[in-house]
Amino acid sequence: MKEELSQRRTIHNFYGRTKTRPISQTKQKIMESVLDSFGIQSFEDATLSKYEYVDLEIGFGDGTHLAQMAMQNQDRLFIGAEPFINGVASLAQKIHSNNITNIRIFNGNAHILLESIPKSSINAIYILFPDPWPKKRHHFRRIINSESLKKIHDVLTSNGVLRIASDHEDYCAWILNHLSNNNEPIFNINIHKNRPDQHDWPITKYERKAVTPITYITCRKLS
Ligand SMILES: C[S@@+](CC[C@H](N)C(=O)[O-])C[C@H]1O[C@@H](n2cnc3c(N)ncnc32)[C@H](O)[C@@H]1O
Repeated sequence: MKEELSQRRTIHNFYGRTKTRPISQTKQKIMESVLDSFGIQSFEDATLSKYEYVDLEIGFGDGTHLAQMAMQNQDRLFIGAEPFINGVASLAQKIHSNNITNIRIFNGNAHILLESIPKSSINAIYILFPDPWPKKRHHFRRIINSESLKKIHDVLTSNGVLRIASDHEDYCAWILNHLSNNNEPIFNINIHKNRPDQHDWPITKYERKAVTPITYITCRKLS
């Protein structure tokens, strides 16, 4: 009951930073123009007709992984959710300088976006180096919890994949515990300690900064 209440709080509140450094005028202009073309308020806003496959990155940070994946897979649409405006500005810069057209940006809390996604619509979801919220009293803020995993499972297509990476040991244990905390398994889980192929799984900014060993988790939807 207590965990359920905490999870409800996370869905409607966002606890991280939404802005740190001021954004230069040039970057701001680029961001505004990119958001005009590619910003979305809900899943429905994404122009899906052209794309058979849709991927979602939750908490894309500076957009390194998202931009790289979009450039490498031009037949797929990539939706990114990120409330941190400096991150959105960095991604916008990458979209602008590489003429990327297959990204849609949700500048906000991914829990809200997830609520707008119909079942079985997303082929792959990436949650890379999510904020660990190490203090026990802040654990309810963790983006991965029973409720979000249920929602993620719902929106994934059959055989869809959820990729997670973290260098925070306690959060990894929490994630694995929540992933297997069901009467019947809903994901086939693979844990890799060695880095997967960089071409298919580009390195993120936080991954470069990681000091402790990283756990890479691939979950394939089972049912
Ligand atoms: C530690 S950073 C990692 C960024 C990036 N994935 C990387 O590996 O470089 C975590 C990111 O998740 C974002 N985030 C936190 N809560 C979120 C939420 N509810 N919805 C979407 N993004 C969120 C934060 O703003 C932050 O940019």
